[in-house]
Amino acid sequence: EKSRIGVTGLAVMGANLARNMARRGFPVAVHNRTTSKTTEFMKDYGDEGAFTGTESLQEFVDALETPRKIVVMVKAGKPVDAVIDELAPLLDSGDIIIDAGNSHFPDTDRRAAYCEERGLRFMGIGVSGGEEGALNGPSIMPGGPQEAYGEVEEILTAIAANVDGTPCCTHVGPGGAGHYVKMVHNGIEYADIQLIAEAYDLLTHVAGLSAPEIGKIFEEWNSGDLESFLIEITGIVLAKTDEKTGKPLVDVIVDQAEQKGTGRWTAIDALDLGVPLTGITEAVFARTLSNLRDERREASTTLGGPTPGSGKNRDELVEDIRQALYASKVVAYAQGFAQMRAASQANDWGLDLGAMARIWRGGCIIRAQFLNRITEAYESHPDLDNLLMVPYFTEAVANAQDAWRRVVVTATEQGVAIPAFSSSLSYYDGYRRERGPANLIQGLRDYFGAHTYARTDADGKFHTRWSQDGSEVAAD
Ligand code: 6PG
Repeated sequence: EKSRIGVTGLAVMGANLARNMARRGFPVAVHNRTTSKTTEFMKDYGDEGAFTGTESLQEFVDALETPRKIVVMVKAGKPVDAVIDELAPLLDSGDIIIDAGNSHFPDTDRRAAYCEERGLRFMGIGVSGGEEGALNGPSIMPGGPQEAYGEVEEILTAIAANVDGTPCCTHVGPGGAGHYVKMVHNGIEYADIQLIAEAYDLLTHVAGLSAPEIGKIFEEWNSGDLESFLIEITGIVLAKTDEKTGKPLVDVIVDQAEQKGTGRWTAIDALDLGVPLTGITEAVFARTLSNLRDERREASTTLGGPTPGSGKNRDELVEDIRQALYASKVVAYAQGFAQMRAASQANDWGLDLGAMARIWRGGCIIRAQFLNRITEAYESHPDLDNLLMVPYFTEAVANAQDAWRRVVVTATEQGVAIPAFSSSLSYYDGYRRERGPANLIQGLRDYFGAHTYARTDADGKFHTRWSQDGSEVAAD
C-alpha cells in the first residue's frame, strides 16, 4: 500500500512531523539524504505508525500515492533548491512539493514559479512550535495554491495544535504568503523575547533580585494578562540551577544572542514596505549589539554613566515592569499585524488577520491568551488599521501607560538599556499625535534639495526659493 504523504529530511523537525502524521494514522514514507539517518529513524520510531523507510529518492517517490505530497524539511536556503532540483524530474504533473522550513518568502515565490513551469504544485508552509510542537501539534501556516492546500488539509489540520476545537492551521494565501506570516510570527517572537529580557535586566539590576526570584515573578505573571508560552518558559529557565557550579544557569550563559535570519528579514521587509516596526527591529539590533562583546567590555570601563542600583519600592517597580511589558507587547503585535496588512495589500494575498491570530493561539512559540483578543478585534473590525484602535487594546494601554512611562524614566535614569520598551512607547506617542514634527523635516529637505513640501492650507506641492528671493513657487 502506498503512503499518503512523504517527508524528506529527518533531522529533528522533519522526524517529529513524520511521527506526528503517523501517530494520527496517516501512512508516511520517510527519506533522508544520508541513509543511516533513515535506518536510525526506522529503528527508533518505526513501530509508532505506518512508516515506509526509503533509501533513494526514486524509492521514496515510488512509495507515494498520487498526486504525491512531499514535505521537504531541510535547512532553509540552498539545500531546499537542491532537493527540489533532484525531486522535480522524478515527479508527475500535479504532484505537490511542500517546503516546511523557515524559508525566506521571496525564495518561496521563486520556487513556486519554478515548480509551476514543470507542472508541479509548490507550497511554502510555516511550522512553529519547535521540536515539541512538531511532534505533538504545531501551529501551521500553509501558503500556496488553494486547491493544493485542499489535498493536504486533512493531514495538516489533524497534526496541528487544537484550541477549543479549532485547529491551528488555515490556508494563509498564495505563493510566499505562508512563509511571510511565519516570518512575522518569528519577528514578533524576537520582540516578545527582547521585552522579556529587558524586564529581566531591570528586575536584576534595578530591583536587585536574583534569577530564581525573578523566575517566581514570571511564574506569577503567567496567570494574568501576560499568560503565554514564552512567559511560562522564562519562569522555568530562570529557576534552573547549573549542575556544574550550583549557580543559576542563566548566570553562566554568555550574553550574546544568535539569530538565523527571520527577525532580520521581518525588519528589512518593514523598511521596504514603509511600515514602522520599531519593536521587532530594536529586538534584532539588540541581538546584534549583544554580539559586540569585546567592544562592550572595553566600553564598560571607558564610557561613563549611572550604575544601576535599587532605591525604589520594589513591589511597585515589579508591577510597573509587568505593565510596561504588557503595553510594549501590545505595540509589538500592533506593528506586526500592521505589517502583515500592508504586505497583504501590496501582494494581493487577501490575508485574514483574525485567522492568523487564531492559528497562533496554540502550538507556536508566541502562543498567548491575548491572541484571543486580537482575533476578536479583527472579527469585529476586519479593516482595522491598527490594533491599538480597538477599545480593548486602547483601554489596556491607557491603563498601563503611567507605569510604562515610569519604567522608561527609571531605566533611563539608572542607565539600563531598554530599546524595545522605550521605542514602543515612542511609537505610541508618535502614533497618537495629530501633528508631529515632520513639517520641519520637509522644510529642511526643501532648503537643501528643493524636494518640495505640501501645505496645510492648499493642494499641490510647493518650493521656497531659499537662496534666491525667498518666494514660494508651485512645484509640479
Ligand atoms: C518556531 C521558532 C523556530 C525557531 C526560530 C529561532 O516558531 O518554532 O520560531 O522557527 O526556533 O527560527 O530563530 P532564531 O534562531 O533566529 O532566534
